[in-house]
Amino acid sequence: MQRVFSGIQPTGTPQLGNYLGAIRNWVALQQRYDCVFCLVDLHAITVSRTPAQLRGDTLTQAACLLASGIDPEKHILYNQSAVSAHTRLAWIFNCVTRLGWLNRMTQFKEKAGKDRENHSAGLYIYPSLMAADIHAFKATLVPVGDDQRQHLELANDIGEKFNHDYGVDFFPHIEGLIPAEAARVMSLRDGTKKMSKSDISAQSRIELTDSADEIRLKIRRAKTDSDAIPATIAELAERPEALNLLSIHAAIVGEKLENVVAHFSGQGFGHVKSALSDALIEKIVPIGDEARRLMNDEAYLVTVLRQGAEKARSIAEPIVDEAEKIVGFIR
Ligand code: AMP
Ligand code: TRP
Repeated sequence: MQRVFSGIQPTGTPQLGNYLGAIRNWVALQQRYDCVFCLVDLHAITVSRTPAQLRGDTLTQAACLLASGIDPEKHILYNQSAVSAHTRLAWIFNCVTRLGWLNRMTQFKEKAGKDRENHSAGLYIYPSLMAADIHAFKATLVPVGDDQRQHLELANDIGEKFNHDYGVDFFPHIEGLIPAEAARVMSLRDGTKKMSKSDISAQSRIELTDSADEIRLKIRRAKTDSDAIPATIAELAERPEALNLLSIHAAIVGEKLENVVAHFSGQGFGHVKSALSDALIEKIVPIGDEARRLMNDEAYLVTVLRQGAEKARSIAEPIVDEAEKIVGFIR
């Protein structure tokens, strides 16, 4: 059976983009595949975090994933640093990856901005660790949002170069599973920016633990324009905020964007916002309630992660042992 692998950084509370771009699909994939879901704490320290933040965010993240429907009994949920296979393979991949490949990564350029010299080496080689995450499990299906497309291509380049350089057929080809709707949810304050857990404005995102009142207020305040909804998607091309709200609505109610646009055509944003708030509250608030309940039971969350790490080790360690033998390390 093909294996699914995906990861999320414990850097805050999961937001609606995480949910629609990734988590919701992870939950659905559990019906058909063996799945491994990883809280990528090694990735999280590529930018500075206090120990308390990292620990707290890792537990929050675990609670939100469980509350969303991740099943830690049938599948695997754990934190990355507990499984050393990730870093062992990442080092080998650091020596396979070419600097030119890393220099092309747009996420590094966006995160480092003009202050490139002051960022960690970890942030720069982040995509090589991500490739190791996936290949350490020989996973072939990787459900992610659109922003990870380039990293997945690189993971394939790295796997192929390893196979080529060592004359083996060891790491399989990886396929990204990127949703058709809402693969890139944008900020509620700026339709040209991605919704993100780390945006300084909490108004820019819906978090999975937001109350019904917070959701309603954030949607009411979301940036829009004063024009009515047009008849077709093409007419939304220059209206990023309008397109974003309608796309979120389509994704959350499970409709095609073109049908949602046709449905609201001719109406103002008051209608869209009120329908969207109702739909979000129905889906998100029960998840938040359950996550809060789980966050009160730290011992349970830690046990889930430890048991997950044990299962993850039993899959990843033999694969990375084998990769090390291929490289020529004496064991
Ligand atoms: P991160 O929060 O960067 O660790 O992302 C975890 C997962 O959520 C990845 O699969 C991302 O592609 C996805 N994701 C993050 N932000 C968004 C967004 N604004 N829209 C859609 N997917 C997203
Ligand atoms: N880089 C991903 C993100 O920021 C998180 C991630 C780390 C990941 N390792 C992964 C996603 C492996 C999929 C597979 O969203």
